[in-house]
Amino acid sequence: MAEKDVYQVADWSGQSGERWVVYQARLDAMMAVFGQAAIEAAAPATGERVLDVGCGAGASSLDLAARVGAGGHVLGVDISEPLIGRARALAPQDTPAVFQVADASSAELPEGAFDILFSRFGVMFFHDPTAAFAHMRRALKPGARVAFVCWRGMAENDWVRLPMGAIKGIVPPTAPPDPEAPGPFSFGDQGRVARILTVAGFTDVAIAPFNASIPFGKGETRDAALDDAVEMTLEVGPLSRALADQPDDIRARASVAVRAAFAGCPGERSVMIDGAAWIVTARNPVS
Ligand SMILES: C[S@@+](CC[C@H](N)C(=O)[O-])C[C@H]1O[C@@H](n2cnc3c(N)ncnc32)[C@H](O)[C@@H]1O
Repeated sequence: MAEKDVYQVADWSGQSGERWVVYQARLDAMMAVFGQAAIEAAAPATGERVLDVGCGAGASSLDLAARVGAGGHVLGVDISEPLIGRARALAPQDTPAVFQVADASSAELPEGAFDILFSRFGVMFFHDPTAAFAHMRRALKPGARVAFVCWRGMAENDWVRLPMGAIKGIVPPTAPPDPEAPGPFSFGDQGRVARILTVAGFTDVAIAPFNASIPFGKGETRDAALDDAVEMTLEVGPLSRALADQPDDIRARASVAVRAAFAGCPGERSVMIDGAAWIVTARNPVS
């Protein structure tokens, strides 16, 4: 049997999605600044129609809805039932955002309907990203804009580099990640992202680095914030998957090691950890 690849496997309709729901408020706080940067790049105008791909619990869809207003429309699409359930529960009654459980790479979407294809960290999980973007392009109007944020490589993202480094030697080694396999870091290579979009039929592809410090833990004291950061790292993301089948003593040692690694990060009632993303923009050709 192939070794488990903890960097890629995420069961969005099952456990991963359910854990995201539990930590949704904190995850939204962590990703907010990246989402805002992508929204600025999308520059939604009043009355526009937006497709939010992999919208999760819908925070970015609701932000986009506020920008396009009552005369606009946002369709948030996500493969995860628990996350779409949370998005619907959080949506104010009068929002122009609606949410749909669907695989964006194959879902029936209205043709030529959207002014903007947007995503906050939701487009790196397709098995065939070129085919997925070509499919989603058909839902766009001629001249429509694309704007999304995705992670750069793992080595540049301390929120995963630090904890995964800390558990080396405690947890049996896992398969080296295939950088192009579906997963959070599969769009780390900007040349690959440009190729995917170009072959999918988009033009004017621009890819710019965006760095921000992520509030990983929160608490009344620094110690409480460190505990919080460790808890979340053990529950959500690659480290949680690396530890999923491990016995309690290994999990306890890993927790101590991750806490020591995070202790070097700044923050008084938080743990601020560096994150490195791409802001990607492109355009659907006019004809
Ligand atoms: C890292 S989360 C980001 C969620 C949300 N955009 C946010 O910023 O909170 C990635 C999301 O992509 C969704 N996803 C993964 N593959 C998908 C697919 N093929 N179609 C639609 N959504 C997908 C997952 O269910 C998950 O909600």
